[in-house]
Amino acid sequence: MARDQGPFKLTNPWPKIGWWSAAALLAVSSILGFLVLARVQQNGPDLGTWDAICRALGITSDSAPAFAAQPPLRTPTRIAWTPQTLAQVAAGDANAGAFVALNCGACHGEDGVSKSSLIPTLAGLDRTVIFKQLDDYRSGKRLWGVMSAIATALSAEDSANVAAWFASRTGGLLPVRNEGLPENGRSLRQTDPALRLVFAGEPTRGIPPCGACHGPGDQKLGAPSLNGQHASYIQRQLTAFAQGARQNDINAQMRTIAAKLTSEEIQAVAAYYAAKREQRPQESGAKAAQK
Ligand code: HEC
Ligand code: HEC
Repeated sequence: MARDQGPFKLTNPWPKIGWWSAAALLAVSSILGFLVLARVQQNGPDLGTWDAICRALGITSDSAPAFAAQPPLRTPTRIAWTPQTLAQVAAGDANAGAFVALNCGACHGEDGVSKSSLIPTLAGLDRTVIFKQLDDYRSGKRLWGVMSAIATALSAEDSANVAAWFASRTGGLLPVRNEGLPENGRSLRQTDPALRLVFAGEPTRGIPPCGACHGPGDQKLGAPSLNGQHASYIQRQLTAFAQGARQNDINAQMRTIAAKLTSEEIQAVAAYYAAKREQRPQESGAKAAQK
């Protein structure tokens, strides 16, 4: 009879109410704890449902392999001007390089003075430049069918040797001498676009003076001498940098500059540097007179 009375009577609703309230509390707190609160991040967008649940449980939801979505690394060149690289270039032996150079004469000219306006003259080019460009062709950082194939056949030592040989040839590019900038009468007020670009640049358009790296002002390590280089070759390289067809310049220095030049300016500077060749007879005469 006691069952019919007090808390034990069958019709007592309270146990049911208790269970249901406990279940409801559990559900609400789970939703709050796992879905609502865990979703919010202090610095960043809200997390998705699965990420929020994993975070509340203290486990990681990121099960993708660590290498999956990395974009391919793109460095402009393998060469850095470390003391080791410079020592390797300096160790180049011109006499040994003469043999390697037998493979180059057909295109670059016997003594590195190229007759074709689209093939660069190598005589007088700084050996660091030749070494770097050969390595860039070898590693595919600079692309040109024949040169890539030829460079692949050369070891780093061959490259240093042939670089030393071509750098020591005369009658090609005039070496860059530090003539100091600015020069008299060569300033921003210059109306000739080539002289202005070479000696003063265009600060308003963010173009530094070419002469600060390619001479006559100063030579930056790795910047080729352009004095006497073929105008069409200079023009084609500038266009290639501007369009991103050539991307082997460290820190995108040339890509940035070339992209800002108009085609008239490209023509003008190319003609300016190519014409440095005309002064060659007097130059060598002056040098011979000094000796
Ligand atoms: C079949 C013709 C050919 C042969 C052979 C050849 N080259 Fe070249 N070389 C070229 C051309 C064309 C270019 C310019 C390519 C470009 O625009 O990137 C070039 C570019 C270069 C450059 C870059 C110069 C610069 O100012 O940036 C170097 C350095 C060079 N060659 C070295 C050599 C050496 C060293 C050899 C021999 C071992 C050689 N080449 C053989 C055609 C040739
Ligand atoms: C801050 C230094 C710097 C300035 C300024 C600069 N250059 Fe260069 N330039 C370089 C370097 C370094 C390279 C070699 C890039 C590489 O490693 O391939 C180069 C390469 C080039 C080449 C390719 C030559 C070859 O033999 O392959 C041309 C052409 C050239 N520059 C033209 C110009 C002109 C024109 C200007 C001025 C409007 C200019 N540069 C301003 C540093 C500079």
